[in-house]
Amino acid sequence: MSEIELGITADMHVHLRDGKMMELIAPTVREGGISVAYIMPNLVPPITTIDRVVEYKQQLENLSPKTTFLMSFYLSPELTPELINEAASKGAIQGVKCYPAGVTTNSAHGVDPNDFTKFYPVFEAMEKNNLVLNLHGEKPAKKDDEEINILNAEPLFLPILEKLHSDFPNLKIILEHCTSKQAVEMIEKLNSGYKPGDKVNVAGTITAHHLSLTIDNWAGNPINYCKPVAKFPQDKKYLIEAVTSGKPYFFFGSDSAPHPIEGKARHTGVCAGIYTQKYAISYLAEVFEKKDKLDQLKKFVSDFGLEFYDVDTSKLKNSDKCWLVKRKFNVPEIIGNKEITVVPFKAGDELDWQIEWR
Ligand code: DOR
Ligand code: ZN
Repeated sequence: MSEIELGITADMHVHLRDGKMMELIAPTVREGGISVAYIMPNLVPPITTIDRVVEYKQQLENLSPKTTFLMSFYLSPELTPELINEAASKGAIQGVKCYPAGVTTNSAHGVDPNDFTKFYPVFEAMEKNNLVLNLHGEKPAKKDDEEINILNAEPLFLPILEKLHSDFPNLKIILEHCTSKQAVEMIEKLNSGYKPGDKVNVAGTITAHHLSLTIDNWAGNPINYCKPVAKFPQDKKYLIEAVTSGKPYFFFGSDSAPHPIEGKARHTGVCAGIYTQKYAISYLAEVFEKKDKLDQLKKFVSDFGLEFYDVDTSKLKNSDKCWLVKRKFNVPEIIGNKEITVVPFKAGDELDWQIEWR
C-alpha cells in the first residue's frame, strides 16, 4: 500500500502560543496533515474569558483559514458555572484544561488536584453543556516532598482521575498525553464495560513522540524533554498497543509544544515541550507501519477524536481529506525565521510518509 486516505484528521491537544511564535506555528497544523485541532489555553496570561478565547480563535483562523480550531479555557478560580454556561451556549469553547500548579510550562496559575471539590459546580456546568475536561495527569510535589518525582507523578495522579470519573460519570474527561503502562491500564479499567456503539466518556490522548521516546532519549537531550516525561521501554510498548488497538477511548493529541531554541538551552532549567506539529501524521505513520497496523491509523487520528468531541463534520472550515503517501523526506534541522528558531522532533531524520490534501 503506498497511499492511504485518513479522512478528516484531528489532533486533540495542540499548543500554538501567541505573538510571533503563533504566526510561525499556526499554519503548520495543516502542513502536518491535521484538519481539526483542539487548542490549549496555557498562554501568559492564561485564557479564562469569552472575549479572549474568541479573539484568539480569530487570530488563529486568520493565520490558517482552512483549519478548524476547537478552543478551551484554563481551569482557574475565575471560571464560574455562569461563565461556562455562556461560553458553551455561544460555542466559544469545547472544553476546559486543568493544569496542576507547577508541573509544566505555564502552569503557575494551575490548581491543586488533591482537592477538586471547589470546582465541582464548574464541572457540573460542564457536564450539563457536554464540555470536555482535559486533565494534565501529574500529581504535583509539595515543597520538600521526597515521594513524588517526574517518573511517578502520572501513576500517582490516576486515583484522582478515578474519583473524578466516579463523581461525574457523565462528564467527558480526557487524561491527556498518557505516558505510562499504569495510565493505559486505568483508561482500560474505566472503560471495562464498553461495548461497540456505546458513547465513550473517559479517554486518553497519546502523543506521537511518546511512541518513540524513552527516558534515555531525553536525559541528556533537552529537545526531547517534555512533561509528562517519556518513561521506560515497557511503557512505550503499552502506548503503541493502545494506539493501534482500535479502541475508541484512545485517540491522537500531539501535545506539540514549540519553544524557541534558547529555551532548550538555559542554565536555569530547560523548557518542557516537543514540537511535532509540522510532521505530526508522518511520525505516527512510521510507528503504525512498523507494527503492520496502518489500517488502524485513521481511527486513531480521525474517527475516535471527532466522535468523542461530537464534532459536526458538516461545519468544518474545509472538507479536504488527508492522504498519506509513501514518499521519503528528511525532517529539517530547524524551522523558523529571522526572529525565532524551533527544532522539530526527529530533526534531520528520514521519514517514509508524507501527507497530501485532496
Ligand atoms: O511538555 C509540555 N509542554 N507539557 C505540557 O504539559 C505543556 C507543554 C507546553 O506548553 O510547552
Ligand atoms: Zn500540552
